Amino acid sequence: MSLHDDQLVFEPAAGRALRGHLRAPGDKSVSHRALLIAGLAEGRSRVRGLSDGEDVRHTREAVAALGAVVELSGREVVVEGGRDKLHEPEAVIDVGNSGTGIRLLAGVAAGLDGITVLQGDSSIARRPMDRVAVPLRAMGASVDGRRGGSLPPLVVRGGHLHGTEYRPPVPSAQVKSAVLFAGLSAQGETTVVEEVGTRAHTEEMLAAAGAAISVSRQGTGATVRLAPGPLSPGEIEVPADPSQAAFWVVAACVTPGSELVLEDVYVGHGRAGFLEVLTRMGADIELSDEDPARRTANIRARYSQLEGTDVRGSEVPSLIDEIPVLAVAAAMAEGPTTFADAAELRVKETDRVETTVAMLRALGVAAEPAADGLTVVGGGGRPLAGGTTGSGGDHRIAMASAVAALVCSAPVTVRGWASTTTSYPAFAKDMQSCLC
Ligand code: S3P
Repeated sequence: MSLHDDQLVFEPAAGRALRGHLRAPGDKSVSHRALLIAGLAEGRSRVRGLSDGEDVRHTREAVAALGAVVELSGREVVVEGGRDKLHEPEAVIDVGNSGTGIRLLAGVAAGLDGITVLQGDSSIARRPMDRVAVPLRAMGASVDGRRGGSLPPLVVRGGHLHGTEYRPPVPSAQVKSAVLFAGLSAQGETTVVEEVGTRAHTEEMLAAAGAAISVSRQGTGATVRLAPGPLSPGEIEVPADPSQAAFWVVAACVTPGSELVLEDVYVGHGRAGFLEVLTRMGADIELSDEDPARRTANIRARYSQLEGTDVRGSEVPSLIDEIPVLAVAAAMAEGPTTFADAAELRVKETDRVETTVAMLRALGVAAEPAADGLTVVGGGGRPLAGGTTGSGGDHRIAMASAVAALVCSAPVTVRGWASTTTSYPAFAKDMQSCLC
């Protein structure tokens, strides 16, 4: 494989397998939250193993712009934070490409006196913000932006919040988290009622920081209750990101002769849905070295012939970020795979229904978009054709294309490879290191 400007070119990898051990980068969701919680906590926190992507760098800089003292020393970031240290920033905060960054920061900003302006790149400028503006206004913040506050830049005037009970109309951990971060500085209790539960990092990490928070699960849903109060500083060791590990798990599952071990992956609530789907498809996957306290495990994945499946309903939020790469697994499976109830794909870094279908079609795979997902017709393990794909600036489409390239019989060019710096700058190097 070779990099030319913004294009990664793969020669056909026929006969080459992936073998060895890899540690995916620090989990992106945990990294954002670790920095924000450390910024709010009263005293000095240490965070190890943060994601080295651009998204998390932007959040780290935002926490410093809000008044916390943030120092980098090797793999460790030391944050001296506290509620009274934080204040309105002097300049506009740039979140880059990060939807998690802008929505969680909106929640933190709602708890601060003064004005915080949040903006990002051209992808962020198209992403819906009314989902956080509506509940934060209900708590007493003023939130404005383009189109009545539904598009960035966002202008948040915070302070003097009161608790609320909020039922997000779409399942979203980002919305839940924005409301909970605001709730830390509100008068009275804040409750979020989710019809379908989403990733639980904010609840887990706030509880670890001493917040008065409780979670009760009913069926597929959950109710989170939070009382306002200070947070304690601590030591946070960020686990490896399951959404990044998923690229390697799928790569091992579809490339004959492969066996990879992904180390120290977070497999807790709302993140391991892709493992269940792959197992249902007949994948050879095993967990070991489980650590119940950190909710981590090593994942061993070996090549095997896959079968198509249906992915829909309440399992979708737990694997929404993995759909582009699961679609590559579907292309190598026997028979069709349908992803439904996943309209959220249309408002990610790109419209991932369209960009995933375009990526697969460019490599000769039959794929059809739908309003709320897509159907992929698998070729039963036959190599894909090869061709040129475009990331559209979306890191996950670029990396899913690279996984597909492993099973193509002709060269593959991935345009827009630079987008991978968002979440996984070392992706190509890691692929090289385990190709044999
Ligand atoms: C995230 C939540 C999900 C996910 C995103 C990260 C988070 O988004 O797709 O990549 O860290 O809270 P939604 O909350 O919009 O579903």
